[in-house]
Amino acid sequence: MDLGFYSGKKVLLTGATGFKGSWLAIILKKLGAEVYDYSLEPKTDDDNFVRCNLKNKINSYYGDIRNLDEFQDYINFVKPEIIFHLAAQSLVIKSYSQHIFTYETNLIGTVNLIEIIRRLNTVKQAIFITTDKVYSNLGNNKAFNENDPLGGIDPYSASKACAEIAIQSAIRSFFSEPSTCNIASARAGNVIGAGDWAENRIVPDIYRAIQNNSTLKLRNPNAIRPWQHVLESLFGYLALAIKLSTQDTVYQSAWNFGPESNRDYTVNDLILEIQKHLSFKYEYQNDTHIHEAKTLKLDINKSKSLLNWSPILSFEDTIKFTTDGYKADLEPKTEEEIYQSRIKQITEYMERMNAN
Ligand SMILES: NC(=O)c1ccc[n+]([C@@H]2O[C@H](COP(=O)([O-])OP(=O)(O)OC[C@H]3O[C@@H](n4cnc5c(N)ncnc54)[C@H](O)[C@@H]3O)[C@@H](O)[C@H]2O)c1
Repeated sequence: MDLGFYSGKKVLLTGATGFKGSWLAIILKKLGAEVYDYSLEPKTDDDNFVRCNLKNKINSYYGDIRNLDEFQDYINFVKPEIIFHLAAQSLVIKSYSQHIFTYETNLIGTVNLIEIIRRLNTVKQAIFITTDKVYSNLGNNKAFNENDPLGGIDPYSASKACAEIAIQSAIRSFFSEPSTCNIASARAGNVIGAGDWAENRIVPDIYRAIQNNSTLKLRNPNAIRPWQHVLESLFGYLALAIKLSTQDTVYQSAWNFGPESNRDYTVNDLILEIQKHLSFKYEYQNDTHIHEAKTLKLDINKSKSLLNWSPILSFEDTIKFTTDGYKADLEPKTEEEIYQSRIKQITEYMERMNAN
């Protein structure tokens, strides 16, 4: 992967105040890109964006992607060459209580961005981040590939499947040859890593239980999820944008990013592995009103063969990267120290990637 591609380029993110976007902003800064962001304000002072003082390290603007005019004005002002669209209402449980906001943000926000890119001629590559939950999951233990039917039982998954349809339609309707801009969608698995404090996500819940000295309540110990360190999928997105610059139309499509599909790790496996690094109290409880798939697995062969990307961290290393990163968060460190601890993990990850 020629990461020198990003040096000196104007890259706009949406969602850098969130977990994945904040890590991506740090990577891009390290790669020498000029980084811009358009997203809502961070939710808490614990957020990676705040702890790493990204407000003062990148060009950040607080705005709502549902507001077409404001969103367009900002992108028009920045004139980015590359866009990574990560802004979303990203939580399944919240999608039940914030039903309309979830569709407006995840679907209409995506359509707004497609429309803005159509109207501008500066953007050359745009990656739209959806999720592994876009597939119609009938619970038959299948590893989904990019040609599998889309679906979604909960509103979050359904809103992202809708966004996928809009993106695939836009590729055919607006961005097929000849086009100044190439776009693609990225469907990643459950990512973990330091700096995530989102509600009702298992790893942040563990750290909240530690902070509050409370007992963590867990659901579905046997549910299988494509756990992956956040850096794995982010380097996949970076590889995809580089490939989109080649103008080969094969890259204008959907891409899965996840661990190897023969790695079946359950919620309980995750808990036991994290317990090797730190102790916390937990118990399983039945919570039947929320639909959750028993298994979720991705077939990543397309990304491996055509993007030359593959996951490099073992399950054990994924957990170690995560727990090491959170240790820095929980200690009384300065913003610069936290930022440098992220840079250190990114550097270590890149060294492993190059050695692979
Ligand atoms: N975290 C995961 O495990 C995971 C897995 C698969 C896919 N994803 C997807 O990756 C992307 C990033 O996820 P994350 O975990 O960083 O989410 P997050 O909740 O931590 O961050 C979401 C970001 O979107 C922004 N945002 C939300 N609504 C907005 C609006 N109306 N206008 C402007 N900005 C808005 C927030 O301000 C924040 O910056 C999302 O699209 C999510 O659906 C995440």
